[in-house]
Amino acid sequence: MPLVQFLMMEKEIFLSQIYKEKYMKEINVAVTGGAGQIAYSLLPRLISGETFGRDTKVNLRLIEIPQVVDKLQGTIMELIDCGFEQTGELVSTSDIKEGVKDADWILLVGSIPRGIVIDGKKIEERSDLLKINGGIFTDQGAAIGELAKSDAKILVVGNPANTNALIGMNSANNSTQQWFAMTALDANRAKAQLAEKAAAEISSVKNMIIWGNHSPTMYPDPYNATINGASAAEVINDNQWIEDSYLPLVQQRGKAVIDARGASSAASAANAAIDTVKAVINPTKEGDCFSAAVVSDGSYGIPKGLIFGFPLRTNSNGKIEIIQGIELNEFAQTKIKVTTEELESEREAVADLIG
Ligand SMILES: NC(=O)c1ccc[n+]([C@@H]2O[C@H](COP(=O)([O-])OP(=O)(O)OC[C@H]3O[C@@H](n4cnc5c(N)ncnc54)[C@H](O)[C@@H]3O)[C@@H](O)[C@H]2O)c1
Repeated sequence: MPLVQFLMMEKEIFLSQIYKEKYMKEINVAVTGGAGQIAYSLLPRLISGETFGRDTKVNLRLIEIPQVVDKLQGTIMELIDCGFEQTGELVSTSDIKEGVKDADWILLVGSIPRGIVIDGKKIEERSDLLKINGGIFTDQGAAIGELAKSDAKILVVGNPANTNALIGMNSANNSTQQWFAMTALDANRAKAQLAEKAAAEISSVKNMIIWGNHSPTMYPDPYNATINGASAAEVINDNQWIEDSYLPLVQQRGKAVIDARGASSAASAANAAIDTVKAVINPTKEGDCFSAAVVSDGSYGIPKGLIFGFPLRTNSNGKIEIIQGIELNEFAQTKIKVTTEELESEREAVADLIG
C-alpha cells in the first residue's frame, strides 16, 4: 500500500478513536440468556447504533448460567467481528451482580423453558414454571435494585414475562427504576394481521394496544387500533373475523411458530425487544402508542400492582405514561376481565416470592 494512503487510513482510525473517546455517550446494557437464540439476533442490534443511537457507545454485559457461560466467548468474537463503531466493552459473566452493576438497561431474556426436565420431573404446568423462574427473578431483581443505576430500565422477555417482572420488581424494591414486560411482539403480530386483512401497508396501522398478559389471554385491541387514522375494526368491518379468527390467531401465534419451526420465535422476539427499547427512549408520535406491560396504577380498573399490558406513551421529557381515556366496548371489557383474572391467579401462585 502506498505510504500516503496508509498514513491517511491511520489518521482516520486515530480521529475516529478520539471522537469515540471525547464525544460519544456511553451506556451499560446487561442481557441475561446471552447464549440463547433470542440473544443471538438481539445482541448485534444493541451495539450497532440502531437502538441507542449512532452517538452512543454500548458496553455490553452478557449473563449466562455457569454451565453455558463459556460459550459467550464465541458470541463476543462475533460481536467484535461485526466491527460496529458503537461497540464498547464486551463482558461475559455468570455473576448477576457483576452483570447488572451500574447498568442503564437490563434485558432479562434468560429463563427456564416449559418442557425442561428438572430433578426427573418434566415442567409442564404454568404454576411450576412460575415458581422455578420466580426463584431466578427474585435474585436478579435484588441485584438490579441494589446495583443497577437508579434510573435503570428493565425489560423482561423471559416467560412468563409479566409475572417474572412482577417478582423481579418487588424483589428490586427500587421505585426509581422502571420495569417492563414485553408485549411488543404481540403488538407487531397484531398489526401485521390487520394490515394483511385490510390490504393496507403495515406502516398505516397505529395505536395497537395489547391489554393484559403476554399469554393466550392477551387482548389485542382492533377497535382502538387505527388503519390510516380510522378504527381498524371499522375498516375491516367483519366482527366475526375479528372474534373467531383474528383474536385466536394473534393469541396463538407463538405456538404456531413453535409448531412450524420447532423452536420458539427468536428473530421476531429480538426485533420486538429492540422496538420496545426504542419506544421507551424516544418520544411517541401523536396519535400512536406503544405496547408493553408495566405496573398498574389502577388505570382502567386494573388492580394496582399487577404487571399489565397497557397503551403507553413516552412524553417529550422521557417519562412513560399510561394513556388514559381509551374507550373499551363490552367485548373488550369481557376480554380484559379474563386476562386480568389470569394475572391475578399468577400473582397468587407466586405470593410467597413477592412478600
Ligand atoms: N415476551 C415475548 O414476547 C417472548 C417471545 C419469545 C420468547 N420469549 C421467551 O424468551 C425466553 C428466551 O427465549 P430463547 O428462545 O432465547 O430461549 P433459549 O433457551 O434459546 O435461551 C435461553 C437462555 O437463557 C439462559 N438462562 C436460563 N436461566 C438463566 C439465568 N438464571 N441467568 C442467565 N441466563 C439464563 C439459558 O442458559 C439459555 O442460554 C423464553 O422464556 C421464551 O419463552 C418471550
